[in-house]
Amino acid sequence: MKIAVLGATGAVGRNLIRELEHSIPLKNIELSLFASEKSKGKKISFREQALEVQAFHLEKVRKTDFVLMSAGSSFSQKYTAQIVEDNGPTVIDNSPAWRMHEDVPLVIPEVNAHSLKGLSRGSIVANPNCAMIQLAVSLQSLKERFGIKFVQVTTLQSVSGTGFKGIEALSKGLVQDHLDPTEAEKVYEHPIAFNTIPYIGEISESGYSEEELKITEELKKVLEKPNLSVMATTIRVPVFYCHGESVTVELSNTANMKDIESAFSNSKNLKFYPNSETPSSMLPTPRSMKGIREVVVARPRFLDAKQHGTWLQFWNLADNLKKGAATNAVQILECLL
Ligand code: A2P
Repeated sequence: MKIAVLGATGAVGRNLIRELEHSIPLKNIELSLFASEKSKGKKISFREQALEVQAFHLEKVRKTDFVLMSAGSSFSQKYTAQIVEDNGPTVIDNSPAWRMHEDVPLVIPEVNAHSLKGLSRGSIVANPNCAMIQLAVSLQSLKERFGIKFVQVTTLQSVSGTGFKGIEALSKGLVQDHLDPTEAEKVYEHPIAFNTIPYIGEISESGYSEEELKITEELKKVLEKPNLSVMATTIRVPVFYCHGESVTVELSNTANMKDIESAFSNSKNLKFYPNSETPSSMLPTPRSMKGIREVVVARPRFLDAKQHGTWLQFWNLADNLKKGAATNAVQILECLL
C-alpha cells in the first residue's frame, strides 16, 4: 500500500511519520514524503531508511492510496479536490478546510468511527481540531453513561499548535529580553514568552475567537449533538507541547464519584487519575505528559464539593501533536483499512 505524508517537514508531519513507523497494521507500507519546494531533498528517517522529501507534485501524490495531509488550510482548499478526483487516493486532512463540510466525516475513532463506514477510494476525511479531540474523547464516556447538556471549556494551548513557527517564537522570546516583543509578535500579535494570550485566531463579531468557534461547532458534529450548548475560551500559553483544559459539564442524569471514576477508567485511550490515588505532586502536567498518545483526565469535582450531582469539573490534557493530530490521523487510517 502506498501512503504519502504531505507537509512532511512540519510539526504535525514529523509526528505523522513517527506514528506510521510504529503502526503494526501499517507495517507493509511504501511511504513517500512531500513538502514545499524549499524542502526538496531533505532526508527524514523512516524504519531505518533515509527517505527524501519531494516537492509537492499533484500527479505523484495521486498515484498513492492514502494521503495524510498537514500543509495548512489554504493548501488544502486549493488541492484536496484535485488530489481525490476521479478515483484518486483518500485524503485524511489535518487542516480546518473540510471539517464542517456536510459530506466529509470528521472523525475521532473512539467517538464516531462508524462515520467512516462505506467510504470508497477518493474520499476526504477530516482530522478534527486538536483542542476539540481531547475534549470529545473525555466527554464521550460521560455522554454514553449519563448524557450531557452543557459544556464549558477553558483551554491552555501550547505553541506547537501553531506549528514550528510557534515553537520558534517561544524559544526566541525566552532567550531574548522578554520585554522585547518583536519576534513573537510576528506570529501571535502579542509576545508569547512570559505571557498568556486570551484568544486564539481572529475574534469574530460574536466575540468568540476562531479557535473557540471551531471547538464549539466541531464538538457538536463529532458527538452528533447539534443542540448541545457549548461555551469555549481558548488561551495560548508559553508551553511548548500539550494542551491543558479545564472542563465544566452539566450531565443529563445525576452521577456519583464512583460512576464518574468508572466511566473514565473504562474509556479506550483515556488515562484516568482518580483523586484518591493521585497526590497533587503526581498530577499530569503538559511537561510530564509530552509524547503521550492517550487523552488524560484528572481532578473530577462536583458542584459544592459534593460527591454526586449533575455539575462536574475536571482537568483534561493531551499532546496536541499526538492524539490532537498525528495519532488520531493514523488511527483513522487504521480504521479505514
Ligand atoms: P515546508 O517545510 O517545505 O515549508 P507547520 O504546520 O509546522 O508550519 O508545517 C507545514 C507543512 O506544510 C510543512 O511541511 C510545509 O513544508 C508544508 N507546506 C506548506 N505549504 C506548502 C505547499 N505549498 N506545498 C507543499 N507543502 C507545503
